[in-house]
Amino acid sequence: MPVLDAPSGAAEIRTARPEDEEQAWKLQHTAFSLEKDAPPPHPGSHEELRVVVRGGKVVSCLTLIHAELSLKGVDLPMGGIRHVATHPEEQNQGYASALMRDTLRKLRAGGILTTVLFPFSFRYYRKFGYELGGNHCQFWCRPNCIPAYAERRECRRGRPDEGAALARFYRERSSQSVCSMARDERRWNALCGDPAIQAVIHEAPGHEGTGIDGYVLLAESRDSYGGRVLRVLDLAADGARAWRALVGYLSQAPVESVEWYASAADLAASRLMHSPAPLREGFKPRGIVTVRPMFQFRVVDVEAALRARAAAFPEGTYRLALRVTDDLLPENEKPLAVHGLGERGEVRRAGPADPCLEGDIRIFSQIFCGYMSPSEAVSQGLARCPAEALETADRLFPSGEPFISELDRF
Ligand SMILES: CC(C)(COP(=O)(O)OP(=O)(O)OC[C@H]1O[C@@H](n2cnc3c(N)ncnc32)[C@H](O)[C@@H]1OP(=O)(O)O)[C@@H](O)C(=O)NCCC(=O)NCCS
Repeated sequence: MPVLDAPSGAAEIRTARPEDEEQAWKLQHTAFSLEKDAPPPHPGSHEELRVVVRGGKVVSCLTLIHAELSLKGVDLPMGGIRHVATHPEEQNQGYASALMRDTLRKLRAGGILTTVLFPFSFRYYRKFGYELGGNHCQFWCRPNCIPAYAERRECRRGRPDEGAALARFYRERSSQSVCSMARDERRWNALCGDPAIQAVIHEAPGHEGTGIDGYVLLAESRDSYGGRVLRVLDLAADGARAWRALVGYLSQAPVESVEWYASAADLAASRLMHSPAPLREGFKPRGIVTVRPMFQFRVVDVEAALRARAAAFPEGTYRLALRVTDDLLPENEKPLAVHGLGERGEVRRAGPADPCLEGDIRIFSQIFCGYMSPSEAVSQGLARCPAEALETADRLFPSGEPFISELDRF
């Protein structure tokens, strides 16, 4: 068990024991102003409380969430980190940093290949190798700015037994995405059975019962003036008709405003930014969009993460070495090369003649999750790669829009 020598005495870093739980929870709910009865839900299969304990006192703690990310249809184990909190009297002694470093080593030893967190400060987590992995667009409008498309009548309420069908539709969509949260049937069943969430489904006419081609998951809350707000927790549609149906459904909500944390691609596909709804009044905003940084991402095990993706690497004959610098997990510095061998790809030890993409773990993580292409990184001086190898690098790590829906936030 790792022991930390701090100015005020030796401390232990470990998984919480039952006697630590109450102290840790008090630190967490106080630091994050959480409801006292239970922590908020998360998208993972299970969670683990990790603590730093000195003389029986929990001085720092965090919660580790076990989930999976889907990168172009390949599911990779992910350790989500939340509620990092140090006792107010014990701050600035290195406890949270030691806990973070130990947790990353533990993740690696346990076969967890990636990690995600929603930070309070992006700067704080950079020193542990995390970097911005995705943004979201906060979209706000009045319902009367949303077109009341006739296809809204084709929508219906979701049923509690529709988890399997929704999981299939979601999986198909996420296989196109560079990085999203994987959701299995168990999670979909939980969402469908959650009384706080309203699921609305669209099926292509003529394919009822077999063909979900869009859904929206909704919840209601109040704004700071007490007005009713419809919160779009997740919205996905395949094709213009399904988009019209679900967007049209939102137009009928008896609320004062609609709020949706969307990816830029989905917001564009919804056409809400250039709404064809008739204009009711003057120069007030028809909608407001704010783009915000959302989550930080890190690859925990470069070799295993590359191997997991090897089957999905593009066809062709190519060779690209990767040289990553990683102070915290130096095992990630092993020189590796991706070889394209016709129909399949393979990860091998790099040879001296292999053209090489070089960068820090933070930049490599951004490239790996598709936040930034190798060309975009090299062009900003954030990574190095010979010009003739950049095309291969861009094909191996295509950029897109990593996105984690509000529903999967933790
Ligand atoms: C943030 C927090 C977990 C750090 O715990 P800690 O045990 O004091 O952390 P360490 O001693 O390892 O590191 C201290 C560093 O964190 C920095 N830090 C503390 N609060 C910060 C903040 N709000 N924004 C940015 N950096 C912060 C300190 O400036 C110090 O930086 P340095 O290493 O460059 O000197 C602790 O201050 C805390 O519990 N805050 C309240 C809860 C919270 O905001 N948690 C956010 C985590 S998601």
